[in-house]
Amino acid sequence: MIKEPDTLMLIGFMGAGKTTVGKEIARQHHSKFLDIDSEIERVAGQTISEIFETRGEVGFRQLETEVLNDVQTFKGVVATGGGVVERQENLEVLQHSPATVIYLHGNLESTIGRLILEGQRPLLQEKSTAEFFALWQKRDPKYQQIANFTVETVGKKPSRIAAEIIALF
Ligand code: S3P
Repeated sequence: MIKEPDTLMLIGFMGAGKTTVGKEIARQHHSKFLDIDSEIERVAGQTISEIFETRGEVGFRQLETEVLNDVQTFKGVVATGGGVVERQENLEVLQHSPATVIYLHGNLESTIGRLILEGQRPLLQEKSTAEFFALWQKRDPKYQQIANFTVETVGKKPSRIAAEIIALF
């Protein structure tokens, strides 16, 4: 079901390409783009890593929920953080969102490869591959549950994924 053609929320595991694909959709579709992690950093005046260090994951999740609520009226493409599905109240916000929610679904191998290249994720520093896999298995059904559409990303360039998403409308 397409709820609101002007507003998309991209969800998926960290390293799924939500920010890259979101920017590409906005470029191709001439719409605005907003990244929830960047917005959290702007509101907090700290980087994501600094927030995890000084306020812990709980403090980070609180800010994430506040920003998620605030962006519900944004018209454009929104990239969420991979852990947005960690809180039940966020799942409810996304289920009732006016936005169309799109799950960028990858696989663990491509995701881990991308994360190693990018670095910068606090959760990446502290987890083993097995723990990462467990997190993936825990989150995947939640992404599926709230998505209006799931788009496969493995082996595809961001520009192609963006074009596939635009073609849904
Ligand atoms: C997180 C994902 C990150 C960021 C934070 C926590 C997670 O966003 O919000 O490091 O719990 O999966 P990306 O999905 O953009 O990497």
